[in-house]
Amino acid sequence: MRTDYCAELSEKDVSKEVILCGWANSYRDHGGVIFIDLRDKSGIVQLVCDPADSPEAHRVATEVRDEYVLIAKGRVRLRGEGLENPKLKTGKIEVVVSELTIENRSEPTPFTLGDESVNEEIRLKYRYLDLRTKKSYETFKLRSKAAIAARNFLDANGFLEVETPILTKSTPEGARDYLVPSRLYPGEFYALPQSPQLFKQLLMVAGFDRYFQIAKCFRDEDLRADRQPEFTQIDVEMSFCTQEEVIELAEGLVKTIFAAVGISVETPFARITYKEAMESYGSDKPDLRFDMKLVDVIDIFENTELKVFKEIARYKKLNRIKALPVKKGENLTRKEIDYLTEFVAKFGAKGLAWVKVKENLELQGPIVKFLSEEEKSELIKRCEVEPGDLIFFGAGEKRVVLEYMGRLRDKLGEMLNLKDPSVYKFLWVVDFPMFEIEEGQVKIKALHHPFTMPKNIDEEDIEEMTSLAYDMVVNGVELGGGSIRIHKREIQQKVFEILGIGEEEAKEKFGFLLDALKFGAPPHGGFAIGFDRLVMLLSKRDNIRDVIAFPKTQKAQCLLTGAPGPVDPQQLKELHLRIKEPKKV
Ligand code: AMO
Ligand code: AMP
Repeated sequence: MRTDYCAELSEKDVSKEVILCGWANSYRDHGGVIFIDLRDKSGIVQLVCDPADSPEAHRVATEVRDEYVLIAKGRVRLRGEGLENPKLKTGKIEVVVSELTIENRSEPTPFTLGDESVNEEIRLKYRYLDLRTKKSYETFKLRSKAAIAARNFLDANGFLEVETPILTKSTPEGARDYLVPSRLYPGEFYALPQSPQLFKQLLMVAGFDRYFQIAKCFRDEDLRADRQPEFTQIDVEMSFCTQEEVIELAEGLVKTIFAAVGISVETPFARITYKEAMESYGSDKPDLRFDMKLVDVIDIFENTELKVFKEIARYKKLNRIKALPVKKGENLTRKEIDYLTEFVAKFGAKGLAWVKVKENLELQGPIVKFLSEEEKSELIKRCEVEPGDLIFFGAGEKRVVLEYMGRLRDKLGEMLNLKDPSVYKFLWVVDFPMFEIEEGQVKIKALHHPFTMPKNIDEEDIEEMTSLAYDMVVNGVELGGGSIRIHKREIQQKVFEILGIGEEEAKEKFGFLLDALKFGAPPHGGFAIGFDRLVMLLSKRDNIRDVIAFPKTQKAQCLLTGAPGPVDPQQLKELHLRIKEPKKV
């Protein structure tokens, strides 16, 4: 219907006759002449409806209201001297309308389009209106570009795109499953995949050699700003590959995607071990846009007068005393320090000791009176502080201290503006422990998943057993992860044994994979990148809902369609289900 897109017109088009289609972004009646800002996906151009040019078009224009759908025929002309609008890309021109059609009318919209201060619930209910803005369109354009760049890169590297089932069996990514009841098999259920993990491994057994998929994954878990119940991964698997080769390919993929949207990323990425990440940053996904490292100081306090620290320093294997030196931290106010103390208390901190470094390296703060000269000078040396700095201390059980000191580091990065939004600091975290022992329990879990290849399978102490697993981290976000998989049945059996998964259970849950390992499974490995998180980074959005066309709320609801919702009793009957009245809480 159209000859041009609104915002693609420029001075070059002056005198051209055009037909434009779009929405009335706004209208102004200037004593006889009506101006309409016409909007399409490209942007806005001004229409002029002057009764002197066309009485009929002007008459139609008097009926136009916001968001009416219009088709306008007219001629491009330069705006007069002083009438240009520098805020508009097309601000030097306008279109004098000769014919105007109202193709469709619109009720007044429930909120002003593009107003992000409007309650998100209402914007999600009318998501199609919220998506009608330039900003949304640009985000989804970026998302599309990124997906196409990924496809092209993987295709060029010999990867085959294969779809795997959505109605399937439970996959072990550690979240709760979404289940679908079966009509044909009373009492039985399909599970929606938490990832295509097992299928991509089967494709390697099939000899496909290199697979990828832009895959939907479903996980019923607690939602956060970067988590949705239904999300997308760029999922990759390859055969006869080393960890190095997988990592190199993943870096190439990310570099290519960023390049496609005009951002250059340097490869290879930095690499640190899981242990180092935890001990130095208190996180397995550290934000390396700023330096600030945790310093081990437990040995300094072996004989200290500071009783809490002395007690804690007696058990060096189980406990930690970590110092966090903050450059120019002297400027933190008492109020800010109190706020941080409350902040870390939420993560189990029993206190947050601190000292300020004054002139001549003199220390000042509530704990200083307990410290000997030797302790002070050793602290100053090890923390590499200078006058004007501040040191925080966390002391207690290792797991708790690393957690809250990591959170503290992150919070300080925010408060001190150390997180440059224009910088992308990529790294790999490698050498993950193979197993984790759940807090307060004796239960052993696989840290990644039970198909991850151990690096040292013969290690006696399972806490020391590491895996060929790797996480890609950028600016404090876990962007992706993967591993080399177990391709030998004996090793898989041993891992199941450690996990306490008996033969029966293994057969019931993953029998098909174990069977496949009997028929010449090649060495293989892969990874998956959280595609929504990637688009969040590229578009600098801090909520995952902004980069998903039809997202769910934090409470896993779709406010647009009203899902989840009740179903017809007849449907329940067909599915052999009866609903128990939920308990009132
Ligand atoms: P993993 O479970 O680490 O690995 O998931 C890979 C990446 O997917 C993203 N992600 C999510 N994004 C949004 N919402 C969620 N709820 C969510 N959960 C995960 C993260 C994460 O890094 N099968 C393995 C991959 C492999 O081993 O090849 C897997 O799924 O960015
Ligand atoms: P107190 O002797 O309890 O008054 O503590 C003296 C200082 O040490 C205060 O600043 C406390 O916040 C801090 N503190 C107490 N326990 C710990 C701990 N486990 N880790 C870090 N700082 C602590």
